[in-house]
Amino acid sequence: MICVAKTFQGLENVLYQELISKDFKEPQVLNRAVSFYADPYDLYRANYVISTALRILKLISEENVLNEADLYNFIFQIPWHTYFSAKKTFRVDITLVTDRFNNSLFLAQKAKDAIVDRFRKELGYRPSVATRFPDIIIHIHVGHRKTSVFLDSSGESLNKRGYRLNHSEAPINEVLARGLIKLSQWNSNIPLLDIMCGSGTFAFEALYEACFLPSAYFRKQFSFMHWNDFDQKLWKKVLEKENQKIKTPAIEIIGLDINPWLIQQNNELISQFPYPLRKYIHFSKNDFLKQSYTFSNGFIISNLPYNERIKVDDLKQFYHDTGSMLKFYYRSNKVWLLLKKDMAKYVSLKPSKKYPILNGKLECTFNAYELY
Ligand SMILES: C[S@@+](CC[C@H](N)C(=O)[O-])C[C@H]1O[C@@H](n2cnc3c(N)ncnc32)[C@H](O)[C@@H]1O
Repeated sequence: MICVAKTFQGLENVLYQELISKDFKEPQVLNRAVSFYADPYDLYRANYVISTALRILKLISEENVLNEADLYNFIFQIPWHTYFSAKKTFRVDITLVTDRFNNSLFLAQKAKDAIVDRFRKELGYRPSVATRFPDIIIHIHVGHRKTSVFLDSSGESLNKRGYRLNHSEAPINEVLARGLIKLSQWNSNIPLLDIMCGSGTFAFEALYEACFLPSAYFRKQFSFMHWNDFDQKLWKKVLEKENQKIKTPAIEIIGLDINPWLIQQNNELISQFPYPLRKYIHFSKNDFLKQSYTFSNGFIISNLPYNERIKVDDLKQFYHDTGSMLKFYYRSNKVWLLLKKDMAKYVSLKPSKKYPILNGKLECTFNAYELY
């Protein structure tokens, strides 16, 4: 079957490389996505181990659709009752990349009607719609030439790794953080430090990377578990095989932040990670501008505050002082910083590499600095 792994703009090649390195078949780069071929085993495995994908979709049908009536007929002819039970809840998400249609809500409604009508015709009853946390998500991609219908095998976005209780606290998406770690080509045999770690996303993602810990190790739910063809035994096989690859890292991963509350919270999260892996990650309170931390021949990755509440002049000074501290005390390390784009020039260092990155709606740049 054809699958599509969705990701952030700018991470397509990173995702492509990850799919190749984990032996997925025939990956091809698309816009904010990479397609690949998978049997059910590889579809489950992709959900479990692919760290730079937001969700994995399975293609179920494609057709050239010219108008709303066409769309209804196309969706109606799909035997939905063979994919999922009428006891499940579902939602339809539409992406429009053509000017042939202009109202995606209306199209989603039409598609929903077609699914419900097909169920009624086959079984005499229908599944309910749930906009939040449905069991089944159907993605319809309406392009210029063809309309593609996918079943979302992941459900909740795969950045929700499952180790955080209150997810809203992470200001950088885990998939983006992991993509940046991969983009930076960090060698996981080199110690890693995040100088302003906030809720610790870079540090936790680095721990996953260094331990070969499957990115969905803590997740209990995936949408494919609600499909009629869900194969529990095959899923167990994926878990067994992939969990055998977990290894103890050879290095330490450290997160520092000025906010003691975040440090305490991160230290509490560590306890969820299996022993002995959790021994290799530490968080400590530290004001980076006032106190140097002993760290050498390592790798520094961080995203500096871009807090809109801080006055711009203060933020300029903050970026400048951070650059000076790095140059003075951390000379033997490689450094990568995710910075607000228009503020990057105030870091008093010359970048050796730059990648434009969109962090939510904020235009950022991911810069490498060689300090020696
Ligand atoms: C953009 S956030 C980092 C977000 C982080 N990547 C995450 O995953 O949550 C910036 C962090 O810098 C911290 N910070 C601000 N000033 C600092 C300082 N002088 N020393 C250390 N940390 C500082 C803030 O407390 C905040 O958590």
